[in-house]
Amino acid sequence: MSVETLKFDVATIGGGPGATPGAEVLARHNKHVAIIEQGDGLGGTCLFEGCIPSKIFLETAHRIRLMQAGSQFGIVNPTYQGVDLPILRDRKRQILDIRVHGAQTACDRLGITVIKGQADFVDPHHLVVRTANEPDLLVEAEYILAAPGSSSRPLAIPGADSVGVWSSAEALQLSDIPESLCIIGGGYIGVELATLYHALGSRVHILEMAPRLLLTEDPIVAQHLMSAWTQAASPVVVETGVNISHIDEINGQWQVHYTGSQHQEVLLEVDRVLVAVGRVPNTQGLSWAKAGITLGSRGEVPVNEYYQTIVPHVYAPGDANGQMMLAHAATRQSQIAAQHILGVQTFATTMTVPHVIFSHPEIAAVGADSRALAEHPNWKLTTWPYRQDARALIVGDASGFAQIIWDEDTHQIKGLQIIGDGAGELVDELTDVIAHGGTLETVVETIHPHPTMNEVVSELVAAAWEEAQNATGTPH
Ligand code: NAI
Repeated sequence: MSVETLKFDVATIGGGPGATPGAEVLARHNKHVAIIEQGDGLGGTCLFEGCIPSKIFLETAHRIRLMQAGSQFGIVNPTYQGVDLPILRDRKRQILDIRVHGAQTACDRLGITVIKGQADFVDPHHLVVRTANEPDLLVEAEYILAAPGSSSRPLAIPGADSVGVWSSAEALQLSDIPESLCIIGGGYIGVELATLYHALGSRVHILEMAPRLLLTEDPIVAQHLMSAWTQAASPVVVETGVNISHIDEINGQWQVHYTGSQHQEVLLEVDRVLVAVGRVPNTQGLSWAKAGITLGSRGEVPVNEYYQTIVPHVYAPGDANGQMMLAHAATRQSQIAAQHILGVQTFATTMTVPHVIFSHPEIAAVGADSRALAEHPNWKLTTWPYRQDARALIVGDASGFAQIIWDEDTHQIKGLQIIGDGAGELVDELTDVIAHGGTLETVVETIHPHPTMNEVVSELVAAAWEEAQNATGTPH
């Protein structure tokens, strides 16, 4: 029996943030585009088991903390009595449905064909699409955007793959709220899910192999998070420098065996274990060699600055190239790849990708951080505390701070880090400035509304500018 062949200008492998934004750009330029997605709807890990579900639940966590702090705001006898998990799960489902419907409508409007099934390379221009119940399809495409995403890195210790040990995706099913939860890994996911389950009432214990939490973040910021957690009435316990040997389950209780930083042997007993030790490119199930592509040592797809692989008509934007596992980075990479296919001008934005960790306190950063000072003697660090900001006091966060890195010679702003309420929104105050080589003066010459949290950033830059004036002895 012959296999039906469908012909397109461009086909994508995957329907997440690495694929769909590029597909939309191409369709708007009259390309005949197919998105091939194996899951139930467009959105990828971000929508179904990553950014969006975690932030839906973290919004509830935020509101719990607001209620618990109610008396500080003059509210008489505020009482928090727990969460209704079915309502919370239903709220998630409704939001996901709206997003899935929106993505499908956009594709319909642009004439993009969405094919449900699992794609694989047959040769550099052909993909086979397999589905559970239908015959295989063959898709022929002039260009391919291969964006299969990433998945949780397995933890290679005995017991870590036992049924009942949670991955982040399972933790975001919110099936129950364990009384005690051990999170293995103190990276982005570990820290966000610690924030969530701590707010929901779990006793949370993070076990991190490295000497500190959030190894990729500025150490000053990571230390501030550690201090905030340690000083909380019911602290999130963090142990760093641990070496976990194995995990057992005995009568529904989980036992995590590890060597602590002082070389002591420890057995931690908890109701649940969650593994969050990184993500790996989702490249294993695809026949890259048939397309002429050789994967890198981490299983990533090697790409150039346009997210083009060694095979010029195959692009790999998103997590699969292993460069930056952030949905907004994937979106931009997807658009850059599409613009490159179209031959239109594009802008590489690699150096100025902001990121947010939705912990409590919230963390956001863009550009260089304090670790860059050692290499650049003319770069300066200036810090501004939230307690100097009227709006921060009003919302009840006097402990956060923001810091910038700036060049003493050119006054260019090189980086911004914030830890505190609203950090995720505030980081954008300087993202454009940093991306376009802007200076302290660019910000100081702009009026910012009062009283807003944005003034944390504008006052910070003004403080740096004062320092710059004092250093040169310029009157101001
Ligand atoms: P991660 O790489 O940020 O952190 C993993 C942590 O696990 C590291 O600190 C590592 O030292 C630790 N670890 C590894 N093996 C261990 C072991 N055997 N015992 C104890 N600790 C161990 O990875 P994570 O948190 O899983 O997140 C994956 C990626 O997902 C992030 O890099 C980020 O790109 C993305 N993400 C982004 C978010 C956001 O933008 N808000 C939120 C969540 C994830």
